[in-house]
Amino acid sequence: MTDTDATPTEVPVADADWWRQATVYQVYPRSFADSDGDGLGDIAGVTSRVPYLAQLGVDAIWLSPFYPSELADGGYDVADYRDVDPRLGTLADFDDMVAAAHGAGLKVIVDIVPNHTSDQHVWFREALASEPGSPARARYVFRDGLDGGATPPSTWPSNFGGSAWTRLTRPDGTPEQWYLHLFAPEQPDLDWSNLEVRDDFKATLRFWSDRGVDGFRVDVAHGLAKDLVEPLRDANPKDFGLPTDGSDPLYDRDEVHEIFQEWREVLDEYDPPRTAVAEAWVARERVSLYARPTELGQAFNFELTRAEFDPAEFRTIIESNLELAAESGASSTWVLSNHDVVRHATRYGLPATTDGDAFLLSGGTSPELDRATGLRRARAASMLMLALPGSAYVYQGEELGLFEVADIPDDQLQDPVWIRTEHGLKGRDGCRVPLPWDTSSPAFGFGTHEPHLPQPAWFADSAVSVEEGDADSTLSLYRRALALRHQLQRGEDLTWVDDDPAVVHFARHDGWHSVTNFSTEAAALPEGEVLLSSGPVETPAGGAAQLPGETTVWLRVR
Ligand code: GLC
Repeated sequence: MTDTDATPTEVPVADADWWRQATVYQVYPRSFADSDGDGLGDIAGVTSRVPYLAQLGVDAIWLSPFYPSELADGGYDVADYRDVDPRLGTLADFDDMVAAAHGAGLKVIVDIVPNHTSDQHVWFREALASEPGSPARARYVFRDGLDGGATPPSTWPSNFGGSAWTRLTRPDGTPEQWYLHLFAPEQPDLDWSNLEVRDDFKATLRFWSDRGVDGFRVDVAHGLAKDLVEPLRDANPKDFGLPTDGSDPLYDRDEVHEIFQEWREVLDEYDPPRTAVAEAWVARERVSLYARPTELGQAFNFELTRAEFDPAEFRTIIESNLELAAESGASSTWVLSNHDVVRHATRYGLPATTDGDAFLLSGGTSPELDRATGLRRARAASMLMLALPGSAYVYQGEELGLFEVADIPDDQLQDPVWIRTEHGLKGRDGCRVPLPWDTSSPAFGFGTHEPHLPQPAWFADSAVSVEEGDADSTLSLYRRALALRHQLQRGEDLTWVDDDPAVVHFARHDGWHSVTNFSTEAAALPEGEVLLSSGPVETPAGGAAQLPGETTVWLRVR
């Protein structure tokens, strides 16, 4: 890792490389902005907020699924990969959104969900209407049960709780085959050894690329290749992590890389080549395989979503992921929050990050949330993330410092996790509550109708209209940080500065330093011009400037 002496001006990146240092804003479309007052966010809502995103200073928008779906899993159950859910708009609305985003200089990334379809997908309906052994069933994973048919074909668990197998029943009530679903029963798994499946997804990649989409986020990328040779082997228990030799029957198998090599050929048909980022929950040393330039090009590093607010943990994660990114030729990715995890302002305000599930189950009462600490740490961690080389993924609402909504009434929860774990886990609705845009309208400016998940009264404090007028708000902090990042961010350089074990301090090019104090006690602030800080920096009369506890400061050091 080297430093250069270039002047810190806005450096235009070659278009094909735009993703390497991009800040990507994740939109969860049904909860972003509702333009037609039906309580569900929609594509025109996204278009209406493009100026907000441009002003925020992000480089790209990633949209979680907006495809036709019965919403058994928040849209990750796709009934038609090449259309827009009518409740969210039309393909023409989508084209308008892309045009508006591109007009504002923002790239557009869409989610592609290849591991499973919805049970409403035409293929699955056809499979149900067809006989065992038919070509229609061969697109999915249908098997006879064991012990005369009554026992599931294997012990494989669903990620949402319970068995990964559901048995079919004929209209006359006779039970028949079982089908595989690693997630909800409404999400039957595809069989990726089937060439028709492979070709169809390549057609989907081309469909959206032809419409001007700049890249893809690949859902459950590590799950597509499965060892379906009978007898089906037991999978590795989730809590022990996946093996590093590709030997699990369900996840991270070596054959999966052949699929992504084929995808790369399709993505490279375009100029600039379309980008892709893998969602692959695999052992750290295997993540970079998905990110090779001959495959998807980038893979999510989710380690910060699970880390405590701890300097040693942060530093290890940063070091190892930069090394891995360099090995694969990708740039690193950084994620503090997304639609699947407890928001980081809440994680950091609980005694331990792992308390999130218990906190949600208790309706937000136990363990107790320390909001001031959570937000202070979240702001510090966000600034640290934005100073790192690589791309940063910002989840809608984190720029407002939103906390998780923990008290959604049970009967309004939507996440299949809640039902499938028999109320053992609350699931992910608490980070998917529609955004507060202002304080005057009934749904905090999200729309005119009751939103599909209830918004808490305290959203009023974090509405965009409120934070915009407050120079110390989290929104103002993100805006300033992203504007500076635009000027400064380039290259993969990072040099550690070791002065205090409670402090994570690194230098980038041009004297740009990021210094995060993880302890609650003030620490020495290195000399330099303060460019931005996540909390107030005070200089005691006659003394040297201090770096307050749980604060990040960006400096220019000459
Ligand atoms: C991914 C998505 C998650 C979804 C699952 C099944 O992990 O991020 O939201 O439930 O895939 O598609």
